[in-house]
Amino acid sequence: MNVVFLGPPGAGKGTQSVMVAEYFEMGYISTGNIMRSALKSGSELGNLAKSYIEKGELVPDSLVIKLIKEVLTLNPVENGYVLDGFPRTIAQAEALDNMGMVVNKVIFLDASEDTILARMSGRRVCEACGKSYHLISKPAKVDGICDKCGGTLIKRTDDNLETIVERLKEYHKKTEPLRQFYLNKKMLNFINGDGTIDDIQGKVIKAIKEGI
Ligand code: AP5
Ligand code: MG
Repeated sequence: MNVVFLGPPGAGKGTQSVMVAEYFEMGYISTGNIMRSALKSGSELGNLAKSYIEKGELVPDSLVIKLIKEVLTLNPVENGYVLDGFPRTIAQAEALDNMGMVVNKVIFLDASEDTILARMSGRRVCEACGKSYHLISKPAKVDGICDKCGGTLIKRTDDNLETIVERLKEYHKKTEPLRQFYLNKKMLNFINGDGTIDDIQGKVIKAIKEGI
C-alpha cells in the first residue's frame, strides 16, 4: 500500500504522515526533509534547491522527479511508502504513475488559513534530527532542546511571514489542482485538519484502514 499526503503548507502533513508510517510500519519519504538535509550538507541538490525553498517556490519538477526516482530505487520497502509532500504538481503525479508506483490512498489534509499561520509561526524543528515541535500544541519537554536527540530547536528558514505567503500562493497555483486530479481517480480522502493532533490521527488511520 502506498499513501500520499497532500495539502497546504502547515496543515499538519508531516505530523500525521510520520505517525501513519510508524503505525502501519511503512517507509516514509518527505521531499521537504530530503531537500533541507541536502541544503544543510551543501550537496549539489541542496545548492540547486536552496533559492527556491528560501523564496517559498516549488523546486523544479525535473529535479524533484529525479530525486524521488533515486530514493524509491535505493530504499525498497515491504509495506509500501507514505509520501509526504510528493507529488505536488500534476507533472509530478503523472511521473509517479509512469514509475509504476500505485497510489492506493491520497489523504488531503486541509486547514483554515488562520490555523496554518499559527502552526507555521510556532513550529520549531530539531537542527540535528529534524523532529518537529510546536511552541504551544507540541512543546519539547525542555524548552529549545529536542526530546529525541538533545539537538537544538530552531525555526525553519521558510517559516517567516513573507515566505509563508509565497508558499501559499505556490500551493494554490500548482498543488491545489491535484485535489481534482485525485478526486477524478476516486482516490481522494478529504480530512479537515482543524482539530487536535490525536483527533486528526484517528480520522486519518480510519480513512486508510477503510481502503485496505
Ligand atoms: P515541505 O517541507 O514539504 O513543507 P510544506 O509542504 O510547505 O509543509 P510544511 O512542512 O510546512 O507543513 P506540514 O503540513 O508538514 O505541517 P507540520 O506537520 O509540520 O516543503 C518545503 C519546501 O521544499 C517547499 O516550499 C518547496 O520549495 C520544496 N519542496 C518540497 N517538496 C517538493 C515537491 N514535491 N516539489 C517541489 N518542491 C518541493 O505541522 C506544522 C506545525 O503545526 C508543527 O509545529 C506541528 O507540531 C503543528 N501541528 C500539526 N498538526 C497540529 C494540530 N492538529 N494541532 C496543533 N498543532 C499542530
Ligand atoms: Mg512538512
